[in-house]
Amino acid sequence: MLVLGIDTSCDDTSVAVVEDGKRILADAISSQVRFHQKYGGVVPEIASRKHLEAILPTLASSLETAGAALSDISGIAVTNRPGLVGALIVGVSLGKALAYSRGMPLVGVDHIEAHLYAAYLTAKEVRRPHIGLVVSGGHTLIARLGSNYSFDCLGGTRDDAAGEAYDKVAKMLALGYPGGPVVERMARDGNPDRYRLPRPMLESGDLNFSFSGLKTAVKILISREQEKIETNHLCASFQAAVIDTLLSKLSTAVKQEKAQSFSIVGGVAANGALREAAQKLADNLGIPVILPPKPLCTDNAAMVAGLGFHRLKDESGIDLSLNAYAVTRRVG
Ligand code: KG4
Ligand code: ZN
Repeated sequence: MLVLGIDTSCDDTSVAVVEDGKRILADAISSQVRFHQKYGGVVPEIASRKHLEAILPTLASSLETAGAALSDISGIAVTNRPGLVGALIVGVSLGKALAYSRGMPLVGVDHIEAHLYAAYLTAKEVRRPHIGLVVSGGHTLIARLGSNYSFDCLGGTRDDAAGEAYDKVAKMLALGYPGGPVVERMARDGNPDRYRLPRPMLESGDLNFSFSGLKTAVKILISREQEKIETNHLCASFQAAVIDTLLSKLSTAVKQEKAQSFSIVGGVAANGALREAAQKLADNLGIPVILPPKPLCTDNAAMVAGLGFHRLKDESGIDLSLNAYAVTRRVG
């Protein structure tokens, strides 16, 4: 069964075709990053307009790569939460239009659940209990995978997401947007012990995070050191603080839930240093870690189509009342 997946939750327009929830036939992505770069972050109004321009060409390119026609598609899955509402609506509208005109079932998918599903697209087997860490530009949370590919949230950020912290630190250092890849690059030539930065909430006794204090610590350091600041060392020190914090909580969650495997998903999971440290943690814990390939970490519609395959089994009709929502889950 071929499922068409659509994701327009933030600044990537993506349309994918996935067979039986597993085999990716196409995962077309049109990135808007160049339109947001000069603002140092995503501008919601620009995002909506660019999705409108890109959505039909991206659909056409996805179908062409998959070697499929719309008549070969059996169902549609579209991200309808959480995200920028004006951006989400573009994808939801395409989903509804296709479903209505072609008489196909349509299901709305949670973007965070879709990120977690990337583990199933990557590994032959996902041994449970399984703990997933979602680290993206908008979210940082630890989840226990439940039945039917849903999840129970065990903890999350109280303020900034990990990716957001990368983006904001990059902005303070005038390194451009998005911050993650460039901070990672700078950190490669830096000494992570050069600057002492906090590891927030390590002693909190729960599985929550807070990255806003770390961001402020970086800000204070920059304003104190001024031009003496050594960017490579600061990036390395910041990255080490983020990785230590993420993996410490992840390790606690794995032990607490007696997990048999764990995964790291979302844009920040593309980070090479985090991936290396996660592999070491897995070796120490003696259980496998699932690290999806980078294109399945950052936003993509294959994860939406993959999860949608399972969700569509419960759908009989076309729900034209499907709407877009900014937030679905909040911690605390
Ligand atoms: O999952 P994603 O593509 O979009 C959201 O759902 O937010 O994540 C984007 C985030 C951005 O904050 C970006 O800076 C971060 O992922 N990111 C990285 C790396 N690549 C992307 N963070 C650290 N290291 C990277 N290599
Ligand atoms: Zn995402």
